[in-house]
Amino acid sequence: MSAHGPATPMTARAGGPLAGTAVIPGDKSISHRSLILGALAVGETRVTGLLEGQDVLDTAKAMRAFGAEVTRTGEGAWSVHGVGVGGFAEPGDVIDCGNSGTGVRLIMGAMATTPITATFTGDASLRKRPMGRITDPIALFGAQSYGRSGGRLPMTIVGATTPVPVRYRTPMPSAQVKSAVLLAGLNAPGQTVVIEAETTRDHSERMLAGFGAEIVTEETPEGRVITLAGQPELRPQTIAVPSDPSSAAFPVSAALIVPGSDVLVPNIGLNPTRAGLFATLRDMGADLEFENERLEGGEPVADLRARFSDLRGIEVPAERAPSMIDEYPILSVVAANATGTTIMRGVKELRVKESDRIDAMARGLEACGITVEEDEDTLIVHGRGPGGVTGGATCATHLDHRIAMSFLCLGLASRNPVTVDDAGPIATSFPIFADLMRGLGADLQ
Ligand code: S3P
Repeated sequence: MSAHGPATPMTARAGGPLAGTAVIPGDKSISHRSLILGALAVGETRVTGLLEGQDVLDTAKAMRAFGAEVTRTGEGAWSVHGVGVGGFAEPGDVIDCGNSGTGVRLIMGAMATTPITATFTGDASLRKRPMGRITDPIALFGAQSYGRSGGRLPMTIVGATTPVPVRYRTPMPSAQVKSAVLLAGLNAPGQTVVIEAETTRDHSERMLAGFGAEIVTEETPEGRVITLAGQPELRPQTIAVPSDPSSAAFPVSAALIVPGSDVLVPNIGLNPTRAGLFATLRDMGADLEFENERLEGGEPVADLRARFSDLRGIEVPAERAPSMIDEYPILSVVAANATGTTIMRGVKELRVKESDRIDAMARGLEACGITVEEDEDTLIVHGRGPGGVTGGATCATHLDHRIAMSFLCLGLASRNPVTVDDAGPIATSFPIFADLMRGLGADLQ
């Protein structure tokens, strides 16, 4: 069974080149934050280009449960009437965040400093994922949590009655942890400080500033120090969500490995804390052009053009990992089609994503004839060069959208078809993936 019904296998076969323009849905990280910050502002926030994937729809539902009025006004167009910082109501039922780690972790942070109680759960993938990374810092604000062993969902959070501000150094590079602490800090008096040794995606900082919070980031020898002044009145915003670079990664990567391809993906968010994959692909020799570079809503965006390329394996700089953490599955597919070895170090966070992504990619790539090495923090792929991947396997996706999309892209460039056991989870982040890829000429059945 997939998360919401029976498993739906899908098969990808090599065919002609991929060509055309692919309009990618909205950024998932920015979409979650638009709804949550909109719910914490006083007045109406209007969002266009919202990702209408299941993860974000689950966050919309959760914000309603906490008292915000969240309405869909058109395709990708949403209106949020917020309740103000500290204004969350106590939900009348369990909050089901489905497959979304970002949704549950950010919402836990956002409610942790309000004196209400909420119980959270999710699908079989989310119920395996560690929540201690959130319950540890929110305990410092005064919140209590009661979950299953290992800090797993379902979990009840009792928000702090008299929250105190916190100074917190994130123990792992995680934008979700950083963001949960900042969201909790909103309803604490005084200054909440988050210190991160490695820079992770900074959408929360940018958007909090946009909503009128007083937030300052300093680069220091100990890392980035982010200081937020508590109890602001957040002002509602008009937000145009840019296209998701993590979704664009699939058609872009497929174009690079399918001979003769030429694909344009317009309006892609290229925030430097997210764009590591594109730098890595260029280091591998990818013919990747950034056209029409501009700033939209405080985020850098550009149109990306990708053409089939003769790629070489490289060692990916470990310090680049946080800026491309969601892109290692598709990078490993590109690496399989490159000449030489690609070494990915510093990637142990992949083990606690929607699935253990190092294990899921290693097993599927091996089944498709690729030699792979791994340890706790490393994935090494020995590339077979263009047209060199055997394929011909069924790969397990473990309720993980990015694993499913990665193996389908692999099938488009392999000698034999590649099947995924369940394409259902793709709907969490990129519901139009199969139609969009078929529109470019991909054979997906
Ligand atoms: C996200 C942060 C990352 C990323 C996830 C989205 C976010 O997770 O993998 O898809 O929107 O903050 P971590 O913070 O766990 O690295």
